[in-house]
Amino acid sequence: MSETKPLNTEFTLEDNPHLGEIYLRTMAHTDRPIGEYVRYLGISSERLIGKLVLDLGSGTHRKFARDAEKIGVQVVSVDPVSPKMRLNHGDVSITAFEAYTIQAQADIAAGKLVRAAAQELPLPDDTFDEAFSVFAVPYWLPKIDYDTHVTKSLTETVRVLKPGGGARLYPVTPIANPKRIGGGFVPEETVDLLTSAGCEVSMPRTSQPKSNGTGFWHRLIIKKAA
Ligand SMILES: C[S@@+](CC[C@H](N)C(=O)[O-])C[C@H]1O[C@@H](n2cnc3c(N)ncnc32)[C@H](O)[C@@H]1O
Repeated sequence: MSETKPLNTEFTLEDNPHLGEIYLRTMAHTDRPIGEYVRYLGISSERLIGKLVLDLGSGTHRKFARDAEKIGVQVVSVDPVSPKMRLNHGDVSITAFEAYTIQAQADIAAGKLVRAAAQELPLPDDTFDEAFSVFAVPYWLPKIDYDTHVTKSLTETVRVLKPGGGARLYPVTPIANPKRIGGGFVPEETVDLLTSAGCEVSMPRTSQPKSNGTGFWHRLIIKKAA
């Protein structure tokens, strides 16, 4: 079992109110390829060709986006964490940090990477065909005032979707479990808010079992009114 890294005092919840404490402590960083994204989200990569996709909590190197761009999908990646934070956390070497920084600066300049959190997206209304989040939102949202963070993230996601656009987020868990790290619960009030705004919301069970053996993850699917 991997050890939990000590909380780096340089990153506090006060400085980073959009990041969960557990996330700051573990800096659980991954860069999943497109194959894993489509499996978790329950879609085919072909259906994304020609679309404009938002990836919420993309990771700093945009692996999914790079794979998707090769097959003709346009992706805007959003992540609040910079390579600098990961270097300070001891998560990357100085050589990797330098390479990631150059790449991230180029991606930001090209409008492909936005350094922001899902709760406050500096992006225009009615823009994206699809919005995805894999092991990021709502999984790693702060535990403190969790419901507010979920609601803000999901209403922001819907705001930036085109009418008729769709969001898929994985994983979610249908019931609140405060002991579980990462969360992923979507409060009933948030679902009510989205449905009253004209969205269709569903949370089907997936075939992916939870790693702690307590059942299966669900995915959250939101369709914005056309
Ligand atoms: C486990 S990684 C997943 C990265 C990528 N989606 C993947 O599946 O490989 C979680 C990511 O979520 C980002 N994240 C954490 N809180 C976030 C928030 N409030 N809004 C957007 N992204 C967030 C983290 O910085 C991190 O890059």
